Amino acid sequence: MLEVIKNRRSTRKFKDEKLPKEIIVEILKAGLLAPTSKNKKPVEFIVVEDKETINKLKECKNKGGNGLDTASCAIVVACDCEESDVWVEDASIAASYMQLQVEKLGLGSVWIQIRKRFNDNGDAENQVRNILNIPHYYGIVCVLAVGYKAEYIRKYEDNEIDVSKVHYEKF
Ligand SMILES: Cc1cc2nc3c(=O)[nH]c(=O)nc-3n(C[C@H](O)[C@H](O)[C@H](O)COP(=O)(O)O)c2cc1C
Repeated sequence: MLEVIKNRRSTRKFKDEKLPKEIIVEILKAGLLAPTSKNKKPVEFIVVEDKETINKLKECKNKGGNGLDTASCAIVVACDCEESDVWVEDASIAASYMQLQVEKLGLGSVWIQIRKRFNDNGDAENQVRNILNIPHYYGIVCVLAVGYKAEYIRKYEDNEIDVSKVHYEKF
């Protein structure tokens, strides 16, 4: 598992190659199996492969969306805020699980933040909801850009792990 974690790096350039449906399903399974508070499972995913729609998602924020330029697939991570009082945590864990599964499958991904992000037209979450017909009471944590890696970013090495962040018994 630690090898997968060390190898996962944010990928923002992808090959122009469609992902097989089975691969996308394998990624989604990781999100659907992620733990959620009180086991409420309030997280939902919108899979977008249409390039025009992916570009519209990119435009919802002023910067930081470049990973969507070449992505074969965008997975929008939405969560029912009325169902879960800790929806940010629930949705973030599901997104992280999917990112690790993506790496395990030999693909690349990057987290594109949506919550608390804006463009000149306003709130990115609202715009994503409008583009994809997502109900207003769903929060959007992020969009994962996914595809076959077209850039190589080296894995993390053991000497980059900052053990000073760990405290034992007291801070
Ligand atoms: C909460 C969160 C928000 C992020 N938002 C963006 C984003 O909007 N655009 C982007 O390109 N990368 C985004 N990233 C990816 C980070 O920039 C990246 O994880 C970090 O620089 C470390 O690099 P690594 O993923 O290769 O280890 C985000 C990551 C997290 C966890």
